[in-house]
Amino acid sequence: MPAKRPSNVAIIMDGNGRWAVRRGLPRVAGHKKGVDRVREIVRACPDLGVKTLTLYAFSTENWKRPVFEVASLMRLFRIYIRMEAAALEQNGVCVRFIGERGPLDDDIQRMMAGLEARTAHNTLLTLQVALNYGGRDEIARAAKRMARDAALGKLDPDAVDEATVSSYLDTAACADPELVIRTSGELRTSNFLPWQAAYSEYAFVPECWPDFTAQQFGEILDQFGTRERRFGDVTAAQGGTA
Ligand code: IPE
Ligand code: IPE
Ligand code: MG
Repeated sequence: MPAKRPSNVAIIMDGNGRWAVRRGLPRVAGHKKGVDRVREIVRACPDLGVKTLTLYAFSTENWKRPVFEVASLMRLFRIYIRMEAAALEQNGVCVRFIGERGPLDDDIQRMMAGLEARTAHNTLLTLQVALNYGGRDEIARAAKRMARDAALGKLDPDAVDEATVSSYLDTAACADPELVIRTSGELRTSNFLPWQAAYSEYAFVPECWPDFTAQQFGEILDQFGTRERRFGDVTAAQGGTA
């Protein structure tokens, strides 16, 4: 097995709509196929050495889409949670949701909380699902809570550092992603984990999400092992000395 596969990986699952339209199908057919890929990629994680997988499922900007598409996506989230809960629990997956829950329908919020509670004891894989997630929104919500805590005397403003900010984010319980993958060929981050991915490696792949396979996932993880991560330092390969 290659030396250095990442343990913490995040994926921007993009291209469902285009996948469907290219086949003369409605966009929602692409989202349905996308759910199958989620199942396959989640199942592949433990064998590939992935400990935390963060999936971008719905952004704070995705509400701009036609009402029918948003409703179809919400329907698919309900179906996914209902159909997969038992398997996730049995397969050692701990599920956590990140993003602002308030605007989601009450029944979805209840299902999310139920799945988190049901899988909380699991340790094989942590699956963070970003649902109504926006990085700027997350940072703004964190800032609001920090300001409140400071006003209440529970947080010393002079003691605020990077670790403090991290601890107020939705992702507080998880390590930052070492690698972020985006499918469908788009070269942008679309408000996904701006704080957490500040030093992540990126892999942009041309395949649309419904065509993304576990095999390709494994190949990308292997390629990650060949990258030199410098974190601002110089290494021997660049002529640096120890
Ligand atoms: C990603 O696929 C799924 C969500 C954003 C919910 P898209 O729906 O963005 O597919 P394209 O980018 O339009 O092809
Ligand atoms: C990002 O994809 C959001 C998700 C994958 C859930 P989008 O398709 O919404 O992003 P843009 O609009 O192309 O930037
Ligand atoms: Mg898209």
